[in-house]
Amino acid sequence: DTVDWDPEDAGKGEYDHYMEKEIHSQPTALSNTIEGRIEDGTVAFDDLEAGAFADVDSVQFVACGTSYHAAMYGGQLLRTAGIPAEVLRASEYDTAAGPVDENTLVVAVTQSGETADTLDAVRTAAGRGARTLAVTNVVGSTAAREADDAIYIRAGPEVGVAATKTYSSQAVTLALLTQRLADDVPDATPADDREAMLNALADLPRHVETVLETSRARALAREFMDSESYFFIGNGFGHSVALEGALKFKEITYEHAEGFASGQLKHGPLALVTSASPIFAVYTGGDDEKTKTNAIEAQSRGAPIVAVGPDDHPLVDVADAHLWVPETHPVWAGLLANVQLQLLSYYAAKLLDRPIDKPRNLAKSVTVE
Ligand code: G6P
Repeated sequence: DTVDWDPEDAGKGEYDHYMEKEIHSQPTALSNTIEGRIEDGTVAFDDLEAGAFADVDSVQFVACGTSYHAAMYGGQLLRTAGIPAEVLRASEYDTAAGPVDENTLVVAVTQSGETADTLDAVRTAAGRGARTLAVTNVVGSTAAREADDAIYIRAGPEVGVAATKTYSSQAVTLALLTQRLADDVPDATPADDREAMLNALADLPRHVETVLETSRARALAREFMDSESYFFIGNGFGHSVALEGALKFKEITYEHAEGFASGQLKHGPLALVTSASPIFAVYTGGDDEKTKTNAIEAQSRGAPIVAVGPDDHPLVDVADAHLWVPETHPVWAGLLANVQLQLLSYYAAKLLDRPIDKPRNLAKSVTVE
């Protein structure tokens, strides 16, 4: 007897899809991302010694797709540290970027290091005189070779077209980069809050494990299966998670999904809200009034509300369902909420029998502009 054997399947182990495997490998991937890089509250990257960023006065991130959402995380972290930072879609860099000089650090966030739009933005920035840095998963990739410096996210190979573990590792790497820049750059704000963030980072892999073990995402995917649209809202770090949640959902389920800043729901999208459009409301701390009031506004129009975040939030009491994450620093609560949304997309796509690892029309790495 012979058995049909697809060599790619061998790598999936006990999982049905690479995406599922990659979601579940996040605790390990994150441990690798962090490993050996934090000592006594300071962050070290192999080739970039202390003081390497001392001349940097502002940062521009360029990225596409999921990497863009990780870059939004990085932008907010840097601004919180008092370092001016803008986040640009790589395909828009040409016309959307502000002026640069040799003190501008242009950071390309790219899993593959081969995305044409991102490479083009790096080349444009370098041509305008900026310093460039690649944050990538692939050693020796074009971005890593062409940028002045490279930092690796160490997530391990990702096969599923929809990025999962690389998003988490990118966001953590950008948090480490923030600490590094803040130590080097003279005008950065004092380190108190960043210290709390770094201390809490050690628990992140364990918290991801807890989310994977306790998630109710499969049941919710089933409950909302016949919906017309899926909306994701969030504020601050929750905004980038909401955008990423919607992107993941549409990529692999082919259902209509959109993400908004919580406060923007009422400025148009509310017209689309019905009882057939569940709203996934992402929050990262207990004081996120905007997400609560806007979610309740949608609920009063009949939309089911799913609170996505820790217990300590007023939304939990009024929401129709809760995707719970452990209490932690708000920066990491956002990443944990994202793991819940990864699982939600995965199970929804599975129920719909979609080709999860290779969605129609999409490629893992887009090498044309
Ligand atoms: C494609 C992939 C996305 C990815 C984006 C950026 O669109 O389908 O999953 O986020 O490219 O890829 P990069 O390798 O630059 O992170």
